[in-house]
Amino acid sequence: MTTSISVSGSTAASRKDVRAAARRESLPAFDVERIRKDFPILSQQIHGKPLVYLDNAATSQKPRVVLETLRRFYLSECANVHRAVHELSERATADYEGARMKIQRFLNAAEDREIIFVRGTTEAINLVASSFGKKFVKEGDEILISAMEHHSNIVPWQILCEEKGAKLRVAPINDDGELILPEFEKLLNARTRLVSICHVSNALGTVNPIARIIAMAHSRNIPVLVDGAQSAPHFRLNVQELDCDFYAFSGHKLYGPTGVGVLYGKASLLEAMPPYQSGGDMISSVTFEKTLYNKLPYKFEAGTPNIADVIGLGAAIDYVGQIGLETAAAYEQGLLVYATERIAPLPGVRVIGTAREKAAVLSFVMKDVHPHDIGTILDQEGIAVRAGHHCAQPLMDRFGVPATARASFAFYNTAEEVDALAAGIEKVRDVFA
Ligand SMILES: Cc1ncc(COP(=O)(O)O)c(C=O)c1O
Repeated sequence: MTTSISVSGSTAASRKDVRAAARRESLPAFDVERIRKDFPILSQQIHGKPLVYLDNAATSQKPRVVLETLRRFYLSECANVHRAVHELSERATADYEGARMKIQRFLNAAEDREIIFVRGTTEAINLVASSFGKKFVKEGDEILISAMEHHSNIVPWQILCEEKGAKLRVAPINDDGELILPEFEKLLNARTRLVSICHVSNALGTVNPIARIIAMAHSRNIPVLVDGAQSAPHFRLNVQELDCDFYAFSGHKLYGPTGVGVLYGKASLLEAMPPYQSGGDMISSVTFEKTLYNKLPYKFEAGTPNIADVIGLGAAIDYVGQIGLETAAAYEQGLLVYATERIAPLPGVRVIGTAREKAAVLSFVMKDVHPHDIGTILDQEGIAVRAGHHCAQPLMDRFGVPATARASFAFYNTAEEVDALAAGIEKVRDVFA
């Protein structure tokens, strides 16, 4: 089944409506109505209107199976992991380590010890900045990022560079929001210790040519961290094929619970890095004279981990696996194209981020209307979009805007919701006319 199409009053329908309907019909076949039933939150009303949830780049909604997994954990197997011989602890440990194996398969990592559970992308990047930085970054070295990074992939490197007397270099982007590859390449040099770059920009939707970026860096023996916060929910990943050295993502953007995320790292690098935090579970033996650290991945998982949410993330990974991320991504791409065609031509609208390769994000500004006003008026229509700098202030500066309104799509969104967004934007324009 495809999304249902209804063009009211066909005799009165304008040519625009007909074109929009034709475009909606050309969306890839996808049983979105069945999928929506898996997400109980979507069926509610907001301000008396059906909820249109278009803030998926901030966090996505959770399917029932994830909610049930969390409930089952707390009702029937809540115990700490790795530390006891009793039945509940063994069940919890088996499910916790089972989730690690699911994520290993999801990323196609070579070994499950390369999967470190953290709180999210932010903590994953901080872990690398702190631990890799402590061991491998010295005065005069350089860390290379891009102009489209989230603050999570800027500030940890700034702090490290300040501590070490190293330099943060920033690869520029063009007016469409695409990385200028020759400029990026020129910035790679003998002092570059690490490239840390997003796969997909949260504020623009730009998909970076990540395989080429990694190949360019590797040809100079420079390791690469990929910020996958916005790519893990949309792409089928293969970290071995990409050959990235680190890959970070957040569970809550991938239909999983909040408070859990993943750092993938090549075992050889993780082995060479010192612990990030210390305490229980990350040791193999402790005396007052000397502590020996645990093997991977536990060396990087100090203290009681977020057991329930790790297991919940495992359930989310199973869920997207059943849907098929490639099928879902094709549908989301169709929605993005449809939304761009509907919204970009609206009077006064300027799309920010017009890269040739984009994923699931439509950022825009409106003439003489602050993005917060756009967000507030859309909210009254039941439409949830994000308005602000999207934790990417330097990027906003690059485009000369303080903020944008951002609609971001998931596979449970529909063409009708895009139409509601377009109607909402017209309402915003009427209010400010
Ligand atoms: C590209 C990117 N990187 C990093 C982050 C930080 O993710 P989290 O807040 O889940 O740690 C985000 C969140 O929006 C993001 O979009």
